[in-house]
Amino acid sequence: MANQNLIAPSILSADFTQLGNQLKEIEDHGADWVHIDVIDGQFAPNITMGIVVVEACKRVTNLPLNVHLMINNPENLIADFAKAGASHLTIHTEASSNLHRSLQMIRKLGCKVGVAINPGTPAEAVKPVLSIVDLVLVMTVNPGYSGQAFIPETLPKIKQIRSWLDEINPEADIQVDGGVSEETIPLLLQAGANVFVSGNSIFKHPQGIQAGIESLKNKLA
Ligand code: DX5
Ligand code: ZN
Repeated sequence: MANQNLIAPSILSADFTQLGNQLKEIEDHGADWVHIDVIDGQFAPNITMGIVVVEACKRVTNLPLNVHLMINNPENLIADFAKAGASHLTIHTEASSNLHRSLQMIRKLGCKVGVAINPGTPAEAVKPVLSIVDLVLVMTVNPGYSGQAFIPETLPKIKQIRSWLDEINPEADIQVDGGVSEETIPLLLQAGANVFVSGNSIFKHPQGIQAGIESLKNKLA
């Protein structure tokens, strides 16, 4: 059975003075997961949000909290993010020197297990862990900010990883993050992605959040 297509709005693009209301709005209008971008100013430029924001989201939404850790040595903090209410924890191959161990720790904490790669990292970097993850996050921009331009060279990587997963772990999802829009979603879908993170195309849509979600969902139908 094909993997379900899902939309995961990234709150990095939300209005933080209205976070509770905006979380309700995405939930009411068909978002599947909430994507929470944690950046430490070391692994990637920008310092975004941390454990207290995950706890706050947990109090106001029933959606799964899909936490994307763009931090060095994530193993030091994954237990705290799990306790705060993360449903998924995704760590980067580039940030963890003991990748299998860190992913196994996430599994033990009861969260869904995600592994991420940056646009400049070859697909081979995730191959050794494909059998122990629930999702592979293929970054389609360099981590740091919302609103960056999609990097098309990531498309063949998505295709390659999907074909490996089909052999080894067909239930695992491929998530894409960065520059996901009405224009890029058909290409990403065709390459084999099925979980679509989107910041600006949802929270900064000129007709509002509902229109943003619907315009992406229409492309998946
Ligand atoms: C980048 C973040 C993304 C970002 C996506 O570091 O991981 O989740 O918020 O934003 P858009 O969809 O605007 O490119
Ligand atoms: Zn992200």
